[in-house]
Amino acid sequence: MVAQVIDGKAFAAKVRAQVADQVAKLKEENGITPGLAVVLVGEDPASQVYVRSKGKMTVEVGMNSYEHKLDAETSEEDLLALIDKLNNDPAVHGILVQLPLPKHLNEDLVINSIDPAKDVDGFHISNVGLLGTGQKSMVPCTPLGCLMMLRDHHGSLSGMDAVVIGRSNIVGKPMAQLLLGDSCTVTIAHSRTKDLPDVVRRADIVVAAVGRPEMVPGDWIKEGATVIDVGINRIERDGKNKLVGDVDYASAAERAGAITPVPGGVGPMTIACLLANTLTAACRANGLPEPEGLTA
Ligand code: GUN
Repeated sequence: MVAQVIDGKAFAAKVRAQVADQVAKLKEENGITPGLAVVLVGEDPASQVYVRSKGKMTVEVGMNSYEHKLDAETSEEDLLALIDKLNNDPAVHGILVQLPLPKHLNEDLVINSIDPAKDVDGFHISNVGLLGTGQKSMVPCTPLGCLMMLRDHHGSLSGMDAVVIGRSNIVGKPMAQLLLGDSCTVTIAHSRTKDLPDVVRRADIVVAAVGRPEMVPGDWIKEGATVIDVGINRIERDGKNKLVGDVDYASAAERAGAITPVPGGVGPMTIACLLANTLTAACRANGLPEPEGLTA
């Protein structure tokens, strides 16, 4: 079988266009412009690239973007004071504190100081609990993007066997909760899982989110399975820098029914879902119906 390639770049563009349409409607009918505040502490080069890209796409869909760049030595007290100000600003519907934070700042404390209703990353402990109990929450962007692609490809996921490789709080665990919410039978596999190849071979859906370049070979993939590769790993091959996923794409594509490439698969969906979450937060804050097809 030669896999269908799931084009995340095109899908993300479609999601952003849907968000832009709904934002235009919200402005016209309700006089509301959703606003996203992004807080960056320090000068981590990768974080600067992400934040610039987020700001640009926020404006492109018609939302207001508020960027707060703080120097690397910013105290916890000053950062918490800024978050408190954003929590109380009615023009700000979403708040994202770019991670990782400098070592002297307590990440859990900072994230949990964000108003859960504005926590568009879905990292606040209240949102984690709401998702785990199947209640309305803000859902982490990368797993939400994976779920949207899976629903788009399969329609219903009910009864499918799903294996999530990786147990991070940002991807693995919320991904498993979302798949369970869509009535999959879910296994979370990790570095201590016994007989990982056989566990993966049982899966109709494989979500790989471990951060290890090409660790899942094609012969672990069941014929016709759907493979979602969350990994973005920089490697050097033949003297060139290359981006690869957690799945060995060439061999997996020979067995899978559908597969996301790296780059151009899950990656572009993360920012698209951040914008979707900001729109959702703006609708909820104003007691309006949630945007269709853009939530879990
Ligand atoms: N750093 C890398 N990815 C992310 C993300 O999705 N959210 C936040 N807050 N920081 C990140």
